[in-house]
Amino acid sequence: MENSAGIGEYWEEYYKNAYPKTDPSLFAKFVLKTYPERKCILDVGCGDGRDSIFFATEGKTVVGIDASESAIKVCKSRAAQMNGSCTFNEATVSKDYFNTLDLGMDFRVSESIIYSRFFLHAVVEEVEDWFLDSAMALLGSGALLCIEFRTVADAELSKVEKDHFRRFISPTTLMNKCLERGMNSLHLRVGRGLAPYGDEDPMIARMVFSGRI
Ligand SMILES: C[S@@+](CC[C@H](N)C(=O)[O-])C[C@H]1O[C@@H](n2cnc3c(N)ncnc32)[C@H](O)[C@@H]1O
Repeated sequence: MENSAGIGEYWEEYYKNAYPKTDPSLFAKFVLKTYPERKCILDVGCGDGRDSIFFATEGKTVVGIDASESAIKVCKSRAAQMNGSCTFNEATVSKDYFNTLDLGMDFRVSESIIYSRFFLHAVVEEVEDWFLDSAMALLGSGALLCIEFRTVADAELSKVEKDHFRRFISPTTLMNKCLERGMNSLHLRVGRGLAPYGDEDPMIARMVFSGRI
């Protein structure tokens, strides 16, 4: 699975068969607690919507996007069963893709978070670069960027999900890419204990950025 199309087909099959996770990630809880004043969340690569639904039940206006049709189907059916503002779109991150994204009338970019958990290591580097370029455009309007991803130090550790495509990322390289684009680093944490999953305790990085002040 070395190209984007192969990755897309993989997730399509995965979400057709996976049992949706109901509990939010620790990262979602951290973001909610740390930035309570932020009212709108754009969840990029939202998967089965576990974190999007959590944010919406906490009163946030949420837009979730994912390339997988089957994942978005799960998200929409979950959203229909809750009282919150949560819309989902099937969309593939591509060059300048935020420019074409309709976030809706209630979504205020200046009060928003671009949230992306376990997405960057699930895509090829070209998609990562498009994502960061698009994110930077929204940071210029006051959004924050909150990302969590698997690091190079996680590569050899055992995994519950053996077949997922993973491009293990150097935190230093990612940090430099963000700073070069004009982002301002607000939070950095690298280590274990942040995303335990079954027998797995991955080596991950959390980063939060604003536009340059
Ligand atoms: C590891 S999952 C993470 C899901 C969710 N954020 C979570 O933490 O459980 C990665 C997600 O990225 C999505 N994805 C992969 N490539 C994508 C792309 N180019 N554009 C949008 N979504 C993509 C996949 O469909 C999958 O749902």
